[in-house]
Amino acid sequence: MRIDILTGLPKLLESPLTESILRRAQEKGVVEIVVHDLRDYAHDRHKSIDDVPYGGGPGMVMKPEPIFECVEKLRAERAYDDVVFLTPDGETFTQDMANGLSLAKNLLLLCGHYKGVDDRIRQALVTKEISIGDYVLTGGELAAAVVVDAVVRLVPGVLNDAESALSDSFQDGLLGTPQYTRPAEFRGMKVPEVLLNGNHKDIEAWRLEQRTNRTASRRRDLLR
Ligand code: ADE
Repeated sequence: MRIDILTGLPKLLESPLTESILRRAQEKGVVEIVVHDLRDYAHDRHKSIDDVPYGGGPGMVMKPEPIFECVEKLRAERAYDDVVFLTPDGETFTQDMANGLSLAKNLLLLCGHYKGVDDRIRQALVTKEISIGDYVLTGGELAAAVVVDAVVRLVPGVLNDAESALSDSFQDGLLGTPQYTRPAEFRGMKVPEVLLNGNHKDIEAWRLEQRTNRTASRRRDLLR
């Protein structure tokens, strides 16, 4: 899989994309993530990528030219399954959407300013609009990092068996199970006996019960 991310603030994406599992996935060659600085596509002296809004109002709006130019250059090189715009008025991101996007070969992610981008970009270039939740960030970069993280870990070959995504919260409609590691007793708090006795049938039954109870008490909406 290849993911191209267009942003005016490339530094914001540096560390989320170059640590831990995302770093390993790129080193293994399973995914390639390329960040493009939109200022490289600005042509005026000040390398401006935004301008004041027509009709007035506060804040700046991202200009169409640099984004069109960058997207068109990339599209000439390969076909993209989706051009995703990160925006608080997009469709709310879910595990189902992450599963769907993880099947893509090429994805293009566009990060906007919180005041938005020239609407012609959305009309002409964007195929999917995603919000990571009902709150407003200063820009789409952190949202893009969230989407990339959730999607890339689902790409075959990224996680090893021990990290397998199959038992994740949400993947089968239930929240995750409580987890423990050594020591078996810590400050008077004991690890549940069932996890210590090595009976896998009992452990599985206990975990399912815990997950069901957790889901019922925290996220009743998931128990359809
Ligand atoms: N940009 C600003 N806020 C956002 C959000 N909640 N989701 C996606 N992109 C955003």
